Parts: sequence; C-alpha cells; structure tokens
Amino acid sequence: MKFISIKDAMKKGEGEVSIRGWVYRERGSAKLKFIILRDVTGTIQCVIEKAIVGEEKFQIADKLQIEASMTITGTIKEDERAPTGYEISVKDFELIGESKEFPIQKDQSPDFLADHRHLWLRSQKMTASLKIRSNILFALHEFSKNQGFIEVQAPSMSGAASEGGSEVFEVKYFDKKAYMTQSWQFYAENIIQSVEKAYAIAPSFRAEKSRTPWHVTEFWHYELEAAWFDLKQNMETAENCIYYVIKKILEENLDDLIFLGANVELLKNLKLPFKRLTYIDAIKLLKENGHEINEGDDFKSAEERSLAKYCGDEFVFVTNYPLKLLKFYHGEDPSQPGTGTNFNLLAPGVGEMVDGSQRELDLNKIVERLKKAEIDLGASDWYLDSRRYGSVPHAGFGLGIERFAAWICGFDTIKDSIPFPRTPTRFNP
Ligand code: 4AD
Ligand code: MG
Repeated sequence: MKFISIKDAMKKGEGEVSIRGWVYRERGSAKLKFIILRDVTGTIQCVIEKAIVGEEKFQIADKLQIEASMTITGTIKEDERAPTGYEISVKDFELIGESKEFPIQKDQSPDFLADHRHLWLRSQKMTASLKIRSNILFALHEFSKNQGFIEVQAPSMSGAASEGGSEVFEVKYFDKKAYMTQSWQFYAENIIQSVEKAYAIAPSFRAEKSRTPWHVTEFWHYELEAAWFDLKQNMETAENCIYYVIKKILEENLDDLIFLGANVELLKNLKLPFKRLTYIDAIKLLKENGHEINEGDDFKSAEERSLAKYCGDEFVFVTNYPLKLLKFYHGEDPSQPGTGTNFNLLAPGVGEMVDGSQRELDLNKIVERLKKAEIDLGASDWYLDSRRYGSVPHAGFGLGIERFAAWICGFDTIKDSIPFPRTPTRFNP
C-alpha cells in the first residue's frame, strides 16, 4: 500500500487512495462514522460505513477519539458538503495509536495551552506556523548564500556577556561561570576578517523580565556582518532580505497564510525601498501626533509601533540615534556628529524587528565609550582584536526571527511563531 498525502489525494480527486494521519474531528451514528483526518498537508472527511467495513471493524471505528492515529484506504470523490470539498468512502482502515480524551478541547485558556504546548503544536494554527517558520529560515539561508555570505557558527556559552547589561543568563561551567550568548556579533566582527561576509542563524538568550507579546527569553536570531559594508549597504541588505523572504513565503505558504488570516494583500504589496527617517524626524513625527517625548529619549515599544503606523503602516528605518542611547560598538556619523551610523527597522504592529549599524572602528573611541559606560569587557577583550589587526570598515545587523514570522503571519504575539516559547515564568515543556 502506498500512502499519499491528503493534499495529493485531493489533487487526484477520484479513484482509490491510501492516506494516514490523526483524527481531527469525529461524529457518528449506529451505522456511519464521520472522521476528519488531518496530516501536515490538510484535512479530509472520511466516511466509515458498517455495511462496508463489517461489524467488528465498525466497533473499532465507533470508539475512535480525537487525535487517534490511523491509516485509511478508500475511494475519494468531490463532495460539496464535505468541509474541504472532498470525501473518502472508506473501504478499510487500521487504528495505529489509540487516543483517549485528548486534553485540549475548545476554548481553553492561554495558560492551559502553554502547559500542553507539545500537544497544542498539533493544532492547524501551529502546524501552519511551523511550516512558515521553516521556510523563513530556509529562505534566509538562501538569501545569504545568494549574496555571498558564509555561514559561520559561534558558541552559545562564553566567558563573558556580549551585549552586556543585566539581561544575561549565567550558567555553571564546571567550577567557573559562563554566560548564554545574547548575540553572535562579537564573534562575527572577528570572523569577517577571514570570510568577509558572514551570517548565522542561532538562538540568542535574554534574561529580560519583559512580559510583552514581543519578548521571549530565547529567540532565534538571524545576524549578518560584512567587511567593507557601510550603513547604506547594510540597510539595503536588510530590506532586500526581508523582501526576498516574504516573496518566498507567498510562493510556498499561501494556503497557510490564508488559513492563519494573514494580510496577504499587505505582503503582496510590499515595496522597496522601505521608508527612512532619522531619529530627529521620528521624534518630530511622534510629537506632531501628540506623544509626550523629547529629543534624547529612547523610544518605548508602543512608540515604535506608532511610528510604523504614521508611516502608512509600512516598514520604516529609523537611523542616527543619539550616541548616548547606543552601544559602544555603533559607529558615529561624521555628517551628523553625536549620532550613530545605526538603524532600527520598525514593523507595523510589532515594533523593532531589526537592529544594525556600521561599526565604530577607532579603538581609542571604543575604549573611551566603554569607560564612560563603565563596561569592563573582561574575558571578552579578545573582541577588540578586530580593531587591532587590520581593521576594516564593516557593518551588520540582527533580525529577530519570531518577530518577523509573527509580522508575516499577522500574529499578535511572537509566542505563536516559536514551537516552545521561553518566558520569565515558563521553561516547560
Ligand atoms: O536589538 P538587539 O539586541 O541587537 C543585537 O543583539 C545586535 N548585536 C544585533 C547585530 O547588530 N548583530 O537584537 C536584535 C533583534 C531585535 O531587533 C529584535 O528583533 C530581536 O533581535 N530581539 C528579540 N526577539 C524576541 N525576544 C527578545 N527578547 C528579543 N530581543 C531582541
Ligand atoms: Mg535593539
């Protein structure tokens, strides 16, 4: 028996087919049992008749519950009344794995679903989300390779924190302390002196207590770094990358997007280049719209979302933040002293999605800024070797994959775009 997917069975549309999957819905009477079977490609209604399968088999069918796994052989035909337009009249079936009282029923609380995340992943919503996420990652690899970037990994544990701050997870490393990586960037700025254009897709860890829909403590980070790149090339790479991935997802996951209720028109109408604003203009725009914010203030995430909204619900780059709001590695813009060669890309509904810059090259300036910010690189002093031996102008950025995926899918939290979200209060399952 050759099993085909539900999607292929519907494509075939007639004759005998064998499929396998899990019971998505079931209802029955004394003589008939209706099963909606699901696999990764879709769902289909299957009808089991006592008169066809016999008394003994029908008793098994009668007891089938949601999420039991089974194989089915039968005749497929178009049927307007069936939920997905096709129906299989079952000739024979095998129950593979019984399922008794599947814990997830309708209308359960977010907490309950989070406790049963491993089971909730079977929902059609999560299946669609996982399929899209996989293709986003694949497209990011494709884009990077097409642009001549070389994938280079860095360790997840290290002797010192990279982004610094208190947002770092400490782990026991034998009799010493290590820190979970917050970013690949420190490694990258050294790696590019070997491969010139590098990228990585890896988890980053943030011990942030922020309980917003847009934060998790372990997120997947697409980061790239390029020797000889300036801010302009860096931003163009970021927008081209986003454009490329969205086109791919529209090609490969249109059904999933529609199922999720994503704004397909918005995705199709995405235009390059994205809007560009300086920090000062962004402050002005917020003030014009009644926000209480002053020059020198950092944007709150709600303000970032508002900015994208005021820019026509489109992506917007904000550049040239005041240096005092920036990390020590962001460069200074000689044409606007006191401001950075940096950008944040803001996405409507989400807020900050990408963070990047042309990096500071001057070792003395970096040392000065480290001192001012009272940062001791400690065991990370090796980072500065990137400025000591044949330093070159370079730039890079980091994109939060869950925020990107949530934007594409139209989710209202990034927890829907990662299989097992980690938050301050949840690290199980
Ligand atoms: O803005 P961040 O902290 O920048 C960096 O880590 C730089 N070293 C990147 C670089 O230049 N290579 O993080 C980059 C992006 C953010 O814009 C956001 O999309 C995402 O990572 N991000 C998070 N996503 C989910 N949960 C969190 N707690 C996140 N923190 C950052
Ligand atoms: Mg940032």
